[in-house]
Amino acid sequence: MNQKLQDWVDEVAKLTTPDEIVWCDGSQEEYDRLVAAMVAKKELSRLNEEHYPNCVLARSDPNDVARVEHLTFICCDKEEDAGPTNNWMSPSEAETRVKPLYEGCMKGRALYVVPYVMGPLGSPISQVGVEITDSPYVVINMRIMTRMGRAALDQLGDDGDFVKGLHSIGDLSPERRYILHFPQRREIWSIGSGYGGNALLGKKCFALRIASTMARDEGWLAEHMLILGLESPQGEVSYMAAAFPSACGKTNLAMLLPPESQEGWKVWTVGDDIAWMKFGEDGRLYAINPEYGFFGVAPGTSYKTNHNAMESLRKNSIFTNVALTDDGLPWWEGMSEPPSHAIDWRGNDWTPDSDTPAAHPNSRFTAPAGQCPGISPEWENPQGVPISAFIFGGRRAKTAPLVFQSFDWNHGVYVGAAVASETTAAAQGQAVGKIRRDPYAMLPFCGYNMGDYFAHWLEIGKRSDAVPKIFHVNWFRTDDNGKFIWPGFGENVRVLRWILDRCKGNAEARETPIGYVPAGGSLDLRGLEDEVDDAVLAELLRVEAEDWKAELENQKEFFEKFGDHTPDEIWKQHAATAERFAKQN
Ligand code: OXD
Ligand code: MN
Repeated sequence: MNQKLQDWVDEVAKLTTPDEIVWCDGSQEEYDRLVAAMVAKKELSRLNEEHYPNCVLARSDPNDVARVEHLTFICCDKEEDAGPTNNWMSPSEAETRVKPLYEGCMKGRALYVVPYVMGPLGSPISQVGVEITDSPYVVINMRIMTRMGRAALDQLGDDGDFVKGLHSIGDLSPERRYILHFPQRREIWSIGSGYGGNALLGKKCFALRIASTMARDEGWLAEHMLILGLESPQGEVSYMAAAFPSACGKTNLAMLLPPESQEGWKVWTVGDDIAWMKFGEDGRLYAINPEYGFFGVAPGTSYKTNHNAMESLRKNSIFTNVALTDDGLPWWEGMSEPPSHAIDWRGNDWTPDSDTPAAHPNSRFTAPAGQCPGISPEWENPQGVPISAFIFGGRRAKTAPLVFQSFDWNHGVYVGAAVASETTAAAQGQAVGKIRRDPYAMLPFCGYNMGDYFAHWLEIGKRSDAVPKIFHVNWFRTDDNGKFIWPGFGENVRVLRWILDRCKGNAEARETPIGYVPAGGSLDLRGLEDEVDDAVLAELLRVEAEDWKAELENQKEFFEKFGDHTPDEIWKQHAATAERFAKQN
């Protein structure tokens, strides 16, 4: 028994006064028991056993359906170390303002001790965490999303260290909801929410916010990246990691199915949201997926858009805030033809004539990653997979071409720092084209000053000559009518192939002021000629000086926010880009 763990559980129990303490072992029996108890209390309902075996539906409080960035804080000693893109609370204020909310908060409930491993068991890149929670919904989700229970206690051992995560649903009131991170003592406090990103503490809280600070201190990377393996017709697999802001299709890219015209090419899924990477002895960066499941956005997911995600969630999965059909099936917008009647995510009757969506736009499926038909045979390799390319991207109607390669590592670090995405009217009720800067897609997930994070990436590049090549993609370029001009989805494999060819030195490129774009003929467009003719291709790869003038101005405003923390090298790269445009004219 790990004494530190025992002491902490005692201390928390004294503070929260639960009726009982349950040490979770992660077994199937335990999972079934928790599910049965929740079904009996009507906190969960079982889905159609024939079509969705061992699947359940949960409906969350309508006030508690998404991550709450405005209630998420970094609690380090100095505000400056949290930086201008994080909310900051001093550790002493956390003691006086938030800790009292935990007093007696588990009265009448059970306290579950959930030990878990982030990453393959026995991997030198993996880490152990323990979440204490009073939510059985959290426990069953953690069992899918992490390697949970006895295996984690074994990995922890008698004197191993672990990241502490204290979670209580509290009274679910948004007024008393906080998600706090203490990077210095590697601890998380979450209260007042049962929603995934706020309550499944292994994911965004540990694997990104806390782990990013561990990675800075210890010389590795914890990133908001999918990991995929691209297999060639000759059977050679190369690995890439890609960071896109939320809602830009990370899960779809990780599970891409190449179209028939790309015969022989295959994409293997290693992870769809988070990558932890350390240097191997050969100087390459090796990546693991710290997660064990997918916590995917349901709306828009269909057999057409993401066949493998649909196959992953057909059994042993938890659905949160989706609609329920009269046949006991889950349903969400974009999945298939709407049913003529359903129960919506709030538990009310719904028909296609209703003016509210059947599923909440942020409704989710929690599915075991091992059920994905395209899961990589290497996904549990404790050594991780060697990364050949980093890919950044965002949603840009104009400005960013379909794909470009950075000139070198430092330029690529600047490209990652300059990632931005445009809001869509449909998604946010905002003006189309409003730019949200989201460096490395880490804006809500970096546990320290983002300017220092850029510096950390620059440092990583100094450590080895074998670091990945860095690229940027944009699947979302539109014509003047706002119509997407690149077909996307499975066709994106063509861009991955160009990236792979560039890594191997096999593809021609044309130099532009922002980096290398595909030279004529180097992007395989066979079979797409009708959709992507020469004019469309030219538009897809166009780097327009006017657009970039505005872009560089917007970047400048953003980088200025970090004051002295923005490394000189980032400014140098910014200035060099402007100069290359000036020279062009
Ligand atoms: C997620 C996100 O839920 O990035 O993965 O928002
Ligand atoms: Mn994410």
